[in-house]
Amino acid sequence: MGVEEGKEAVKRYIEDLRKKIHYHNYRYYVLNEPEISDAEYDRLFKELEELERKYPELITPDSPTQRVGAKPLEEFGAYEHSIPMLSLNSVTTEGEVRDYDERVRRMLGGEEIEYVVEPKIDGLAMELVYENGVFTVGSTRGDGKTGENITQNLKTIKTIPLRFFAETGAPPLPLLEVRGEVFIPVSKFKELNAELGARGEKMFANPRNAAAGSVRQLDPRVTASRPLDFFAYGVGRAEGKEFSMHWEVLDYLQRMGFKVSPVIRRFKEFKDVIKYHEEVKEKRDVLDYEIDGIVVKVNSIEQQNRLGMISRSPRWAIAYKFPAREEFTRVNDIQVQVGRTGALTPVAILAPVQISGVTVSRATLHNEDELRKKDVRIGDTVVVERAGDVIPEVVSVIKSKRTGAEREFRMPDRCPVCGAEVLKEGPIVRCIGVSCSAQLKERIKHFASLRAMNVEGLGEKVIELLVDRNLVSDAADLFSLTKRDLLKLERMGDKSAQNILDAMEKSKHTTFSRLIHALGIRHVGEHTASLLADNFRDMEALRNANYEDLISIPEIGPEVAKSILLFFEQGSTKELLKKLERAGVRYEKKGVRVAEEEEVKKALEGKTFVFTGRISMPREEAKSIVVRLGGKVASSVSKRTDFVVAGEEAGSKLEQAETLGVKIIDEEEFRVMVKEVVKTV
Ligand code: IVH
Repeated sequence: MGVEEGKEAVKRYIEDLRKKIHYHNYRYYVLNEPEISDAEYDRLFKELEELERKYPELITPDSPTQRVGAKPLEEFGAYEHSIPMLSLNSVTTEGEVRDYDERVRRMLGGEEIEYVVEPKIDGLAMELVYENGVFTVGSTRGDGKTGENITQNLKTIKTIPLRFFAETGAPPLPLLEVRGEVFIPVSKFKELNAELGARGEKMFANPRNAAAGSVRQLDPRVTASRPLDFFAYGVGRAEGKEFSMHWEVLDYLQRMGFKVSPVIRRFKEFKDVIKYHEEVKEKRDVLDYEIDGIVVKVNSIEQQNRLGMISRSPRWAIAYKFPAREEFTRVNDIQVQVGRTGALTPVAILAPVQISGVTVSRATLHNEDELRKKDVRIGDTVVVERAGDVIPEVVSVIKSKRTGAEREFRMPDRCPVCGAEVLKEGPIVRCIGVSCSAQLKERIKHFASLRAMNVEGLGEKVIELLVDRNLVSDAADLFSLTKRDLLKLERMGDKSAQNILDAMEKSKHTTFSRLIHALGIRHVGEHTASLLADNFRDMEALRNANYEDLISIPEIGPEVAKSILLFFEQGSTKELLKKLERAGVRYEKKGVRVAEEEEVKKALEGKTFVFTGRISMPREEAKSIVVRLGGKVASSVSKRTDFVVAGEEAGSKLEQAETLGVKIIDEEEFRVMVKEVVKTV
């Protein structure tokens, strides 16, 4: 076979691999129905990466490896939409929406009309251009005519196909402009904020702001780390295809691999549209994405064309909004709350107000800069918003209601709880007191919380009382509480006390990652905790880690590494860990009790392994065995590698190992090496 022919074969092989990855990506992210294991997917992906490293000239912009390929930008370019992106007129009452329907019927001369109804997603409108089925340009709506070119950021979103996924095998359209909404799911938004909060970074007020802040990052790596998602709801130009119904457009988009809201319906009777609005409104709090109403669209494109548009909004569609989760109320006071890391947060104490069924009496003002920007004063009338179950927020001040009696608020220069000095770090003011009871309360609340040690039934009030009565001076003290201690607390009955004791006992058996998270190390949220748990054998190993060990973990940066080191250097940490151990706290790693594993010989202590090619046990499992036994896993072969475990079809890493003279073993030998241990695990 000639060189060129060989190259052709590689090209075909790579193309085939890409197709497979696109397909499995679609199954996983869009359909939520993966067909293969994560490990298998990783294997395909790594194989493609390896081949592309070897043949960089074969890399294409739509390769799955190119989702985060681009370098940070200085600024975004402008992008002119070939067909303006319209906005929607909106109505809020049933009367108004009925009037709309009547108007449409009149204009169409009383013809039969079918409506397509969709949720109105509260995110950001985007346009994605596909040429011959390949994603080429993505842009924001901007002013409707010109938006920003944010292609490289949109490419990082897994539910945006890099190329059409055409089941039918029909050639893709020469040009299709897909329109839809970028958003962050509510559950992911909460995780993101928790993570940002743990790192002491600015949190987002709501999922929409989080999506906006994430999609407009100049560094696509930051965007890639944000849980952005995309729903398609329409098209701009479409060459080579005539759609006759909007429903058909949605169906086509779905078939091309886009996520289309599963909540869409079509109705001929307008009363059904109204019923749908009611139903979706009820569902609003259970959906994992924020919606602020429904969009009603005339299904027939021919009818749409006859209706046309009026001042930048189509006549063939209307937004029928839900009542805003906003109310006016008065700021009775502004108080300062001290968090777990000592951050002082200004909180507005409000005249209680009902917002869609929930009484709101406090709202966060985030920090001093935010407070100044919004210019909130004590006595002001403000607009308060409750977005999903996110903490209520002061949106704006109604300045026209000011009487002159309002008082400005200044952040204190001492901690309002312990009187210690405060330090300003960017927008955040922090109490530096080491024995601040407010911080202690928050640390213990965090320690006992659902996603940390999960001590069921140990509520915030009880924790506050325990600290106030000096019954606990750190989180580990919880475990030495007796029933008598608990019974000393107000409104504590025998049964509740017993329940708390039982829950504490239960919580002593936890996982390594939960325990790390529970410690409340600054900058270490749930995600970082699980990374640490994956990379260190046990607490002892983590405690002894140095800067290099920590920084060598992808995703862990200098700031996080330093914070971890600082945490373990403290005398109070050593004390806390000792007390936790004495109290009988045990953690499991991937189902293995470390206490039992201690007895197992650390066969692989200090040895570095590299895996290449296909082995029969899942890669993740093999890696975790190595780590559990005190070894390390690297992704590339170097002189410091001790063993290369080569499976079937091992590639360049095997060659590298041969060149460097690194010991190469096969899966069988690896199994023998770890066998004794695997048995006891
Ligand atoms: S259709 C010609 N459908 O609402 C109609 N828009 O004010 C253009 N939106 O900018 C939009 N969900 O950001 C449409 N299912 C949906 C939508 C939707 C959310 C947003 C979009 C648009 C704004 C219109």
